[in-house]
Amino acid sequence: MPQSSCLPPPVNPKLDLTALAPMQDVTDLRFMKVIANYGSPDYFFTEYFRVYPNSGLNHDILRSITENSTDRPIFAQIIGENIPDLVRIARELSRYPVAGIDLNMGCPAPRIYRKNVGGGLLRDPEKVNRILGELRCAVDGLLTVKMRVGFENTDSFDRILDLINLYDINLLSLHGRTVKEMYHSAVHYDLIAHAVQRVKCPVLANGNVTSAHTAAAILSSTGAAGVMIGRSAIRNPWIFQQIRQYLSGEPVSMVTLAEVRDYIDTLHRTTSTPTIPERACVNRMKMYLNFIGQSVEDSGAFLSEMRLTRTESELFGVCDRYLLSDPDREFALEPYPGLVARPSCETPRESITGQISQSA
Ligand SMILES: Cc1cc2nc3c(=O)[nH]c(=O)nc-3n(C[C@H](O)[C@H](O)[C@H](O)COP(=O)(O)O)c2cc1C
Repeated sequence: MPQSSCLPPPVNPKLDLTALAPMQDVTDLRFMKVIANYGSPDYFFTEYFRVYPNSGLNHDILRSITENSTDRPIFAQIIGENIPDLVRIARELSRYPVAGIDLNMGCPAPRIYRKNVGGGLLRDPEKVNRILGELRCAVDGLLTVKMRVGFENTDSFDRILDLINLYDINLLSLHGRTVKEMYHSAVHYDLIAHAVQRVKCPVLANGNVTSAHTAAAILSSTGAAGVMIGRSAIRNPWIFQQIRQYLSGEPVSMVTLAEVRDYIDTLHRTTSTPTIPERACVNRMKMYLNFIGQSVEDSGAFLSEMRLTRTESELFGVCDRYLLSDPDREFALEPYPGLVARPSCETPRESITGQISQSA
């Protein structure tokens, strides 16, 4: 597989790359620590730093770099469109122990793309040309891009892939959907395969990589250098280790429901703080459980009951009932068909809390 020698060494240089996808309000310092506990990916990415005139570095996101205890490299992701500010923030971030600077060109939230940032940039290849040109000059180290295959269609896809080559981008994480396709349409792996052929740098295939088996199939069909995984890593934090096992020809370790119950406790212990009110803790746990619940049982009853809880004791009571009544049963490697996690998009924390409260 085409692994670039300039990227930080992966956990196992003989295997394809893995990365935890950046997820706003999810992949913070604490969550990355939890993931590392179950088997780190090769690379981590921060949530995006918003860049605008006079913006500073978000303190909480910065902690995921300065206090990174995962032993794995972390890329700092930025989102914005104002070139002097992007350059300023990229330079500032380069002074911290980051593996590189990653430009977000994929965020599909309308309040983001309407400002022509994130996925909105894909509508304007000339702007992308200028941004990448200036960032390439400003960043001495690795400069990487995370993007989708287009905004509404793929008309500018090749033009942008050629810019990836022109500015010697070091790694391309490609979510195989357009911005308008958001998160739930089929993923266009054929377009990822096309990008792998067209660009010089390694490509991480992203979008619905749900298990070790799926990862191997996507790697083989796209020729990508690795996979980037978001939602399925919340559901199954063992996934990176399982991919390494699968790709090495070893049996993939199965996980029992009792181990998943322990994972839920670890999430709770690691991500809650005494100053956060119980209701906020419950909502945060529900956000994780929305994903985990897709592999607990196939009827959706766990998800429905979990969403109705209001206190920690109710929430953990539901978890105990579904996960400890038959503790040795296997946690499904794939999500059960038809079970939808919500929310599953970039949504500010207050809206996540709102959506969950409405559903409760
Ligand atoms: C809750 C949530 C937050 C996200 N935040 C970001 C982000 O900050 N930056 C980014 O580039 N992508 C973000 N994404 C997109 C993911 O990185 C990833 O591209 C997408 O979820 C598809 O991968 P998956 O199917 O493995 O989840 C987010 C996705 C979700 C579900």
